[in-house]
Amino acid sequence: MAAAATKLLLTDLASSIDRVPDNYIRPEADRPNLIEVEVSDISSIPLIDLQGLSGPNRDDIIKQIGQACQQDGFFQIKNHGIPEEVVQAILNVAREFFRLPESERLKNYSEDPLKTTRLSTSFNIKTEKVSNWRDFLRFHCYPLEEYVHEWPTNPPSFRKEVGEYCTRVRELVLKLLEAISESLGLERDYISKNLGKHGQHMAMNYYPPCPQPELTYGLPGHTDQGLITILLQDDVPGLQVLRDGKWVAVNPIPNTFIVNIGDQMQAISNDKYKSIIHRAVVNCDRERISIPTFYCPSPEALIGPAMGLIDHEHPVVYRSFTYEEYYQKFWNRGLRTECCLDIFKMPLA
Ligand code: OGA
Ligand code: NI
Repeated sequence: MAAAATKLLLTDLASSIDRVPDNYIRPEADRPNLIEVEVSDISSIPLIDLQGLSGPNRDDIIKQIGQACQQDGFFQIKNHGIPEEVVQAILNVAREFFRLPESERLKNYSEDPLKTTRLSTSFNIKTEKVSNWRDFLRFHCYPLEEYVHEWPTNPPSFRKEVGEYCTRVRELVLKLLEAISESLGLERDYISKNLGKHGQHMAMNYYPPCPQPELTYGLPGHTDQGLITILLQDDVPGLQVLRDGKWVAVNPIPNTFIVNIGDQMQAISNDKYKSIIHRAVVNCDRERISIPTFYCPSPEALIGPAMGLIDHEHPVVYRSFTYEEYYQKFWNRGLRTECCLDIFKMPLA
């Protein structure tokens, strides 16, 4: 335990210990239970081929996307249009970043969740009782020119490679948002038009090897607070999705991304599309890196259900809120399996 108090970041603690410090140990009823996990196949988490999304197969692909959003809340995509070199480059930059000397990494350290570029650990160490086996660099990346000057300059290629990646991911997201709007029967630009000036955040999650992975989480079960998440993971398994009450491991498939619906999309779709609980577990052998892009409304955007989806049988589920209000609640209450949206539920008529 003495070591835990002397290090700000887990990365600098994990390599020197052979037991998980007490502050990372979950109560027995809340442990990962790694044996009872299923492994996903294509029938559980759909893999959608985006090739042809702007061609004659558009309607069919939109149907697949709509079904996945409604039934699964999670899907994987291939032929997404982001070159492999761009993806490899950002994975390399992330790996290099977490291998920098402690003093170099700590230049980016902050415990304030509202800071727009920061390195931190766990989830929100100011509010949580049990820590998570993760360090993370989190930063805003749209509009790029407003944020890029805050980003790390070490590794030296950070700004160039990450800038390229996030620009490409944004293009992909905008295409997906059009497809999702259409899949809901809304105008193609409906969702995009209702996000204010738009926002895009990214994280680089670093999960060091863990001596006792059965006692702790990389990230406990949660839903994502944004509109839609595009997750890039390296080749080490760790992501699990809750499906029909069971945890399903979504193991990496090369050249794919994982897409999941976030809380804002659930609100806009008036509960038709679900923001699904997922978590990250750790392992004793290999470090793991994942890079989620959280696409979101800008803070002042007012989020509420699309009126086209409201009728007698589908009354309004959530009151409208600004994304700023939501975002603050999300960070303050800590990661919990109850979705933060519950706070905004309309009273039953
Ligand atoms: C997240 C998340 C999963 C992973 O950062 O919100 O769910 O596999 N990450 O790292
Ligand atoms: Ni998540």
